[in-house]
Amino acid sequence: MSDPQLITEESVAAAVDVALAAIAAATDSTALKQARSAHMAEGSPLANLNAALRSVPNDQKAAFGKLVGQARGRVNGAYAAAEERIVAAEDAARLAAETVDVTALPSRYRAGARHPLELLRERVEDIFTGMGWEIAEGPEVESEWFNFDALNFDADHPARAMQDTFFVEPPEAHLVMRTHTSPVQVRTMLDREVPIYVLAPGRVYRTDELDATHTPVFTQFEGLAVDKGLTMADLRGTLDHFVKSVFGDEAKIRLRPSFFPFTEPSAELDFWHPTFKGGARWIEWGGCGMIHPNVLRAAGIDPEIYSGFAFGMGVERGLMLRDGVQDMREMVEGDVRFSQQFGMVV
Ligand code: DAH
Repeated sequence: MSDPQLITEESVAAAVDVALAAIAAATDSTALKQARSAHMAEGSPLANLNAALRSVPNDQKAAFGKLVGQARGRVNGAYAAAEERIVAAEDAARLAAETVDVTALPSRYRAGARHPLELLRERVEDIFTGMGWEIAEGPEVESEWFNFDALNFDADHPARAMQDTFFVEPPEAHLVMRTHTSPVQVRTMLDREVPIYVLAPGRVYRTDELDATHTPVFTQFEGLAVDKGLTMADLRGTLDHFVKSVFGDEAKIRLRPSFFPFTEPSAELDFWHPTFKGGARWIEWGGCGMIHPNVLRAAGIDPEIYSGFAFGMGVERGLMLRDGVQDMREMVEGDVRFSQQFGMVV
């Protein structure tokens, strides 16, 4: 390996040529490093020639030393120049890649919006809790007994069919998707001690097709008050305060005789909508009445001692009336642009 015969002008020139060619061919620092270990580092032809100098007779050392030294100098110089060129190019490329346009508009997180149905439901809850009422809940998969029987619906009462019930399999389980929030009345009376003042908001289900005015899943809120000496006057006062809270001080209520199996007497609730889009007018919004003695009895409450009133309204209809939403489908589609129209309430 360190045979002095190896050192000739040709062998040195050849080693220099391959080294320079490899250096010139390198276009990035990895390739340049490879060229360096192949052609300049220990074990490379040029390094071997340098090592061979040791065995050169003394009188020739100066000449060969100069030959190899100049060769190494040329290669080192070429390497240094290539390194400078490549580092500069790589720096420039990195700077270009990392360029930040400080004038660009920031990409912002799109904040969501709370659903207006949820907001209205909370508003309703606040109005009643503000009067000292409590919030009650019940299951959406409900037993037929709570949904109908305990509410004084006859076994063959047409209302069972009229309410377009989703029955849950198997039929022997007697489970339904609750068709209204009224079963929570009975659950509450069984669970809590009188006096009872509760509001029960929640989802209900009916076999309606989704269109502008129907949705198979919607939201109701049920009011229930049971105490000694409650009368229709208490019902009127409560609902009057409620509609004024939602629709303004000019709003007021009107009750029209009606029929529900679980109330006696029963009434349709109308309210005067002072800011209705087409002009102030009476609007129908739900049912109400004095709790039927049979319902009190089913819940273990003595109708001779206690009386109560109840009411039930739809939240979707409330939103349509309050905010002029024309199409119920907008409420169920979940498009954030719909919700955003109602403001970014947190
Ligand atoms: N549950 C009835 C419905 O869904 C609404 C209703 C009427 C609820 C009269 C009541 C009431 O509490 O007293 O159509």
